[in-house]
Amino acid sequence: MLKSVKVGICGLGTVGGGTYNVLTRNKDEICARAGCEIVVSHIGERIENPNCDTTGVRMSADAFEVVKDPEVDIVVELIGGYGVAKEIVMQAIENGKHVVTANKALIAVHGNEIFAAAQEKGVNVLFEAAVAGGIPIIKAIREGLAANRIDWLAGIINGTGNFILTEMRDRGRDFEDVLKEAQELGYAEADPTFDVEGIDAAHKLVIMASLAFGIPLQFDKAYTEGISRISTQDVAYAEELGYRIKHLGITKRNPEGIEIRVHPTLIPEKRLLANVNGVMNAVLVEGNAVGPTLYYGAGAGAEPTGSAVAADVVDLARTISVDSTHRVPHLAFQSDKLTDERILPMDEVVTAYYLRLSALDRPGVLSQLAQIISDAGISIEALIQKEPLAGQDHVPVIMLTNLAQEKSVREAVKLIEALESVESEVTLIRVESLDG
Ligand code: HSE
Repeated sequence: MLKSVKVGICGLGTVGGGTYNVLTRNKDEICARAGCEIVVSHIGERIENPNCDTTGVRMSADAFEVVKDPEVDIVVELIGGYGVAKEIVMQAIENGKHVVTANKALIAVHGNEIFAAAQEKGVNVLFEAAVAGGIPIIKAIREGLAANRIDWLAGIINGTGNFILTEMRDRGRDFEDVLKEAQELGYAEADPTFDVEGIDAAHKLVIMASLAFGIPLQFDKAYTEGISRISTQDVAYAEELGYRIKHLGITKRNPEGIEIRVHPTLIPEKRLLANVNGVMNAVLVEGNAVGPTLYYGAGAGAEPTGSAVAADVVDLARTISVDSTHRVPHLAFQSDKLTDERILPMDEVVTAYYLRLSALDRPGVLSQLAQIISDAGISIEALIQKEPLAGQDHVPVIMLTNLAQEKSVREAVKLIEALESVESEVTLIRVESLDG
């Protein structure tokens, strides 16, 4: 058994600092679990982190010094982005070091290349912290559910977006106002459009889809729609209909292919996912043996994310001396068993829809709308027409449809938008019952 494993951390920002503090504060507990001592021996960072006491640790301003250090067994990449971070990971692999990263963008976009290089070199790249921060969802899908054929999973996997939607619902606050607060609280990505436009969630979803279905990482095929067009009105109407609006990542296996999609979604208010609020994350996974399973916890933050990074370090410390062909595969399935199953274009997805529009308050308008919907072969589950506001001749009309194909709904929406009696664009939000 190894006596001591040396860890080099590249980047001592929020997550780097959290990881360092977890590894040092819980050293005895971690050592007892790992079966060896785990020592942070080298940190690559230019700026000191005031929350960390790094006395006695070798510090380098250049993170590549960590990667070159012959003492370091495991390189922890916590810089983020695709540039330097990718070079660090590839160099570490080249130098025969194991890697742990929290970098979802890097794994989702360059993971196939990274894992191939790691396999070639007989090292491992672990990435638990890349999806849903502190929730051990990667390990659950890759190992805990290894006996299942996974049918679908759906998750709230962006804390910033969930915080915004929760505040809009609970306090009727405006989108921009809440986003600003999320940035100040340090939840948001460096570029907050990654949070609100669903890119961050898509990175995480693509990783989970690969682990669940045994397919290579394909970020370019994910459908991504953000929450910036959701209004407080939609939140209130959804509530009236017994639903909550959540920004979901959904991946589903169906006979025509695999769906990978991130978009605002109405879900029944009684579902547990509908009650995941604030910055919390949750992922619902349906396996054919286990049934539905739900994983909930902090999706961001220094120590929750540090907890996931440190767990990967412990995993590596345990398996470092095991022959690489006997380690848990990067994407859950053996690399020669990954399939090229088709990813379903969004047009072919079948789901239910919430449509909101503003129509002239005049006889015959509702029947025109109903005719278009029925000509498209779509049936209406519920329809609400609100009172006109004082002095206005248009009224909000909200429709819930039964299951329909995205393409038919989009075509019907175009026809509705072309009606003279309809003002502005139709708001379209997908509806999922999440009942398996
Ligand atoms: N910006 C991300 C979020 C951080 O809000 O969930 C964790 O990936």
